[in-house]
Amino acid sequence: MAGAHLDSVSAGPGINDNGSGSAAILETVLAVSREGLKPTQHLRFAWWGAEELGILGSRHYVNRLPSTERSKIDAYLNFDMVGSPNPGYFVYDDDRRLEAVFKDWFAAKGVSTEIETEGDGRSDHASFQRVGIPVGGLFTGAGRTKTAAQAQKWGGTAGQAFDRCYHRSCDTTANINDTGLDRNSDAIAHAIWTLGAPS
Ligand code: TRP
Ligand code: ZN
Repeated sequence: MAGAHLDSVSAGPGINDNGSGSAAILETVLAVSREGLKPTQHLRFAWWGAEELGILGSRHYVNRLPSTERSKIDAYLNFDMVGSPNPGYFVYDDDRRLEAVFKDWFAAKGVSTEIETEGDGRSDHASFQRVGIPVGGLFTGAGRTKTAAQAQKWGGTAGQAFDRCYHRSCDTTANINDTGLDRNSDAIAHAIWTLGAPS
């Protein structure tokens, strides 16, 4: 299962947070459908409401899933902010197998990654983690500042936030780094297909 929150804060349009993750998983859905691909596992996608109000939508969904339904979810992948304008490449480190699928993809593309530490439990994966479902995901950074070492390996601007428009009115379509969104979208499709149609 993969998910992204579709709501945004009332202060702004929320294009990076979280039009980016919402669009990225939608593109995977469309690609699978367009190509007529048949996954061996069922793929399930969710676009959550009310994440910004306290992770309400995903929590409600998980709470009302009977335990037999919960146990059918092998993994939940979360994508919240994957097009930050001054991007970092962060991978959730909550589950080793899921983390490795992403890390290996980035490594093969020559892009170094770091473990996501800005927001433990700060998005919809927390709802799944709480009931023991393995979780993974990607993140390109929010209000934290990019260090000199990070700018050296990833490009962009040291001393500036990964997303200066985080939760602000300027989180518009101008607030997206195309390279970051493109890499993350490909990594997402790769992970979903690797896990959903293992060879
Ligand atoms: N939607 C999250 C929030 O507004 C964005 C976020 C901040 C985040 N830090 C994170 C998401 C770390 C995942 C991981 O709080
Ligand atoms: Zn968000």
